[in-house]
Amino acid sequence: MGKKGQHCLLLLLCLSGLVRRSAAFVYWTAIVEIIYVNSSNDTVGKYCECGMYGRNSDLTTASGIVTLPMGDPHGCGSDPVYSRNASSPPWIALVKRGNCTFSEKINAAKWQGATGVVVYNVDSSGNSTTQMSHPEAPHILAVMIGNIQGMEVVGLVRNGTDVEMVIGPGNPHGPWVDPYWLYFLSIAFFVVTAASITYFVFLSASRLYHLNMHRRNERRLKSEAKKAIGRLQVRTLKRGDEETNSEAQLCAVCIESYKAGEVVTVLTCDHIFHKACIEPWLLERRTCPMCKCDILTALGVEEETKEDIGIETPPEATVITVTGGEAVYEVPLSHPANSDPERHQNPYDNRAFEGDSEALRG
Ligand SMILES: *[C@@H]1O[C@H](CO)[C@@H](O)[C@H](O)[C@H]1NC(C)=O
Ligand SMILES: *[C@@H]1O[C@H](CO)[C@@H](O)[C@H](O)[C@H]1NC(C)=O
Ligand SMILES: *[C@@H]1O[C@H](CO)[C@@H](O)[C@H](O)[C@H]1NC(C)=O
Ligand SMILES: *[C@@H]1O[C@H](CO)[C@@H](O)[C@H](O)[C@H]1NC(C)=O
Ligand SMILES: *[C@@H]1O[C@H](CO)[C@@H](O)[C@H](O)[C@H]1NC(C)=O
Ligand SMILES: *[C@@H]1O[C@H](CO)[C@@H](O)[C@H](O)[C@H]1NC(C)=O
Ligand SMILES: [Zn+2]
Ligand SMILES: [Zn+2]
Repeated sequence: MGKKGQHCLLLLLCLSGLVRRSAAFVYWTAIVEIIYVNSSNDTVGKYCECGMYGRNSDLTTASGIVTLPMGDPHGCGSDPVYSRNASSPPWIALVKRGNCTFSEKINAAKWQGATGVVVYNVDSSGNSTTQMSHPEAPHILAVMIGNIQGMEVVGLVRNGTDVEMVIGPGNPHGPWVDPYWLYFLSIAFFVVTAASITYFVFLSASRLYHLNMHRRNERRLKSEAKKAIGRLQVRTLKRGDEETNSEAQLCAVCIESYKAGEVVTVLTCDHIFHKACIEPWLLERRTCPMCKCDILTALGVEEETKEDIGIETPPEATVITVTGGEAVYEVPLSHPANSDPERHQNPYDNRAFEGDSEALRG
């Protein structure tokens, strides 16, 4: 966790650094509305998203009567004169860009009681605006508008028209639009990545665990099958045995009839097969090929779980039909092994598994 934690911390630091830096490039447009009564006594309202909030401005809404400085339109100097003050109804100072810093203009208007300061751009700059930087004049609404719009309002005010101006935030712009959005995105990305990595690790571990369990189970079942095979009755067929006489009696594994001298294994369900044929089968499947009877259960070798084997041989019985013969091998499939308890004490004569059998007894 130590190394991972360090990486996370580093990534977070980088992200917060980027966000702080990118915040400088983010700017908000301002919606500027002017309302006045024109010479034919009609109320005119004009509305555009053409302003830009200063970097240190309050992102608030303000409204008031547009007021120009009485002398220099730049509104510079320590004490420019406005026709309104703090005890007047709310008013907005409209000053021209240039001749002093934005902070000076804004502070001068603020000290005289302005609700907000609107700076219009220099002559012949069209509708263009820039983001003002005014670190010495915070906590006031400061917006820049284009020269064309600014001059229009200045003309109206100079003609004696009372112009009401309403300013409000428009939309954020910038390389990453909004720092909060970026924060949200990076955190979401982080969470999603962490979740998928955790999920993947969990999945791999559980798959590995199950595979391991399955393998161990298989190995255990195989060794149990070996023990069970050792306990099965083995006979050598003699001339005259009924199995050798009947053409219909076939070994279901190799589909061959029995001949005298062949060694056969008798399963707990009384079905017989060639010893060489049935033993590999039983090692793999542990059931009679004909009636599906489970030799482990029948012999009582199996002690516990058979349920937790991941992949179980499908329960559907494959009915073996032997060509030529009638329904010789038709065995009730649903019927469990008709295991005779006496069969369990079969005389031991399977030499191949003597060792296992000794181990089981000891
Ligand atoms: C404009 O309206 C005012 C009343 O609202 C009225 O007194 C004035 O005469 C009108 N002026 C013109 C030019 O219509
Ligand atoms: C005053 O405004 C009305 C409505 O916007 C307009 O129709 C009219 O021409 C304007 N009058 C002048 C003198 O601009
Ligand atoms: C710039 O401001 C100073 C006062 O601070 C004033 O004397 C000067 O005339 C102004 N210049 C222009 C071009 O307005
Ligand atoms: C504000 O202006 C009014 C006149 O418009 C004046 O009577 C008043 O003294 C001024 N108040 C301040 C604090 O300057
Ligand atoms: C400035 O904007 C107005 C509309 O807001 C537009 O009619 C005018 O053509 C623009 N002027 C320039 C120079 O872009
Ligand atoms: C200002 O008033 C004069 C005449 O009084 C007029 O010619 C001019 O167009 C007006 N300007 C504005 C911007 O209304
Ligand atoms: Zn066989
Ligand atoms: Zn059987």
